Amino acid sequence: MSTQSNITIEQFMQQQNDLDLLRFITCGSVDDGKSTLIGRLLYEAKSIFDDQVASLKQESIAFGTQGGDIDFALLVDGLAAEREQGITIDVAYRFFNTDKRKFIVADTPGHEQYTRNMVTGASNADLSVILIDARKGVIEQTKRHAFICSLLGIKQVVLAINKMDLMDYQEDVFQQIHADFVSFASELHFDTITPIPVSALKGDNVVSRSANMTWFRGPTLMAMLETAPITDLASDHGLRFPVQWVNRPHLDFRGFSGTVAAGTVKPGDEIRVLPSGATAKVDEIVLFEEKLQQAQCGQAVTITLDKEIDASRGDMIVSAKDPCEVSDQFEVELVWMADDQGYIGRSYGLQIGTNWVNAQITEIKHKTNINTMERSPARTLELNDIVVAKVSLDKPVAYEAYQQCRPLGAFILVDRFSNATVGAGMINFALRRAANVHRQDLNIDKAARNKLNGHQGKVLWFTGLSGSGKSTIANIVEQKLHQQGIRTYILDGDNVRHGLNKDLGFTEADRIENIRRITEVAHLMVDAGIVVLTAFISPFRAERDMARSRFDDDEFIEVFVDTPLEIAEQRDVKGLYKKARKGEIPNFTGISSPYEAPLAAEFSLSTAKSTPEQLAEQLLAQLEF
Ligand code: ADX
Repeated sequence: MSTQSNITIEQFMQQQNDLDLLRFITCGSVDDGKSTLIGRLLYEAKSIFDDQVASLKQESIAFGTQGGDIDFALLVDGLAAEREQGITIDVAYRFFNTDKRKFIVADTPGHEQYTRNMVTGASNADLSVILIDARKGVIEQTKRHAFICSLLGIKQVVLAINKMDLMDYQEDVFQQIHADFVSFASELHFDTITPIPVSALKGDNVVSRSANMTWFRGPTLMAMLETAPITDLASDHGLRFPVQWVNRPHLDFRGFSGTVAAGTVKPGDEIRVLPSGATAKVDEIVLFEEKLQQAQCGQAVTITLDKEIDASRGDMIVSAKDPCEVSDQFEVELVWMADDQGYIGRSYGLQIGTNWVNAQITEIKHKTNINTMERSPARTLELNDIVVAKVSLDKPVAYEAYQQCRPLGAFILVDRFSNATVGAGMINFALRRAANVHRQDLNIDKAARNKLNGHQGKVLWFTGLSGSGKSTIANIVEQKLHQQGIRTYILDGDNVRHGLNKDLGFTEADRIENIRRITEVAHLMVDAGIVVLTAFISPFRAERDMARSRFDDDEFIEVFVDTPLEIAEQRDVKGLYKKARKGEIPNFTGISSPYEAPLAAEFSLSTAKSTPEQLAEQLLAQLEF
């Protein structure tokens, strides 16, 4: 912290507020001298409190590797260790400032969880300092770091070529590494690559110019950080204001609260609400009790409009003259951040801005191996995978391409059960296929068909282990319904897998696709007014819930055929359990693949105590059509 004793506290605070802020990320490992470099930057920017310096001197003498000189690596590692008590932090943020600027540096540890950490640290950085050990040059890790920085939309790279002291400060070493990096990075989306030869240990070109490398004409690292352009989301974009909540303290006031994500807003500005498209003029901009003449990006405010229009949480208020687009299908870059695999067809929660929608990955175009940059096909997502994928949302959202406007193009995927963030995504572009396929309005609708049939269409979704009795019970129920003049159809696992789903096996990914297709077929049949009985193991809660969400509340009835594994195995009607035990059938439900029993099925039929006929009767007695 700069200490300026000849000014008042108020002046000092004001100065701090006026300073602009550069966010950057450092990429490299301790071996490359990263801790030493950050330590030196903090030290020379005077961000370290004096007592910390004193103890650092002590520790350097005791533990340092620098023969009594201050060991800056101890400082950074020490801070990290302090913060790490009790929690695992993946990204350490450090704050410092000089007279010219404030800085936030994201420091991510270089261990094997690198991708997830780097994505977190890089997502709002303006610049990245990529460290290279001059003795090693551009290595695999350098490429990995550069690729992730580019993916995350960082346009400015500083190549800190470190340990120049160990290479006798030779210019040609520096030039060669720079040339290697530039040729590799030509396919990445950087605007600037600024190489700087440094010795973090000795201080060359970190803050002071090096007397050992007079051949170098470029800026020192600190000078670079103090002058690098900062992404200007305020003037480069029209207003983007994601509505966080509708603020209605009393009947005479209705405002929309949120944080300006890009652009600026003034009273009188014409705005449009997306996705609805309704327009209005901004009446007032309120910050607590104060009325502002303008709000710009980063400011949390409440906006009132000149007329009542519908907008709620998740909607986006944009400038009417410069609106953004709306879509529900995208091509995206996706980084998988969970230990659990990700699947095509599974339903995830998707958060983009203040908007929460349901989403499915519909296709994985390819996976990129970030060590070799090779692309390969993929059907599932593993921790740290980076893929190009297509996602489909259940509702349209306002968006921009991530590389154009990060806050509008970044999203996360969330597991619907654990609420854990499982993926981070960046929108490349919207897929036009959705935009150009319109729903055809038809004259005869579900209600008309139901009226003719004299009953409603519904799904009875039977779930349970193989051999639990799903098909047997469903069969009896169907016969009885048929006798009552109800139109029915059974979709049965073994049968459908001979036709529509002939191409699917029993991996998790295939089972998810199996259920997705069945859901869609059942959905059409219910629309046609039919009572559909499905008999699939459907072992995963996520897919059963996804199926449920495709139907109206009273249309979907989950029936758990509750047969314990031991009993199903004893019966072994098809002889499959025996084979599975012998290891002849991989991924067999209950044995080598999980079955997740329903937590809140409408019906639970225990086959241990009753016959299939009794259970069918029980079920029918409680159903209404
Ligand atoms: S689901 O898991 O995708 O819902 P589905 O109900 O379509 O499964 O098919 C299950 C039927 O396929 C079983 O009743 C059994 O006859 C047969 N089958 C063959 N291999 C397997 C397996 N690995 N796991 C479970 N069932 C299998």
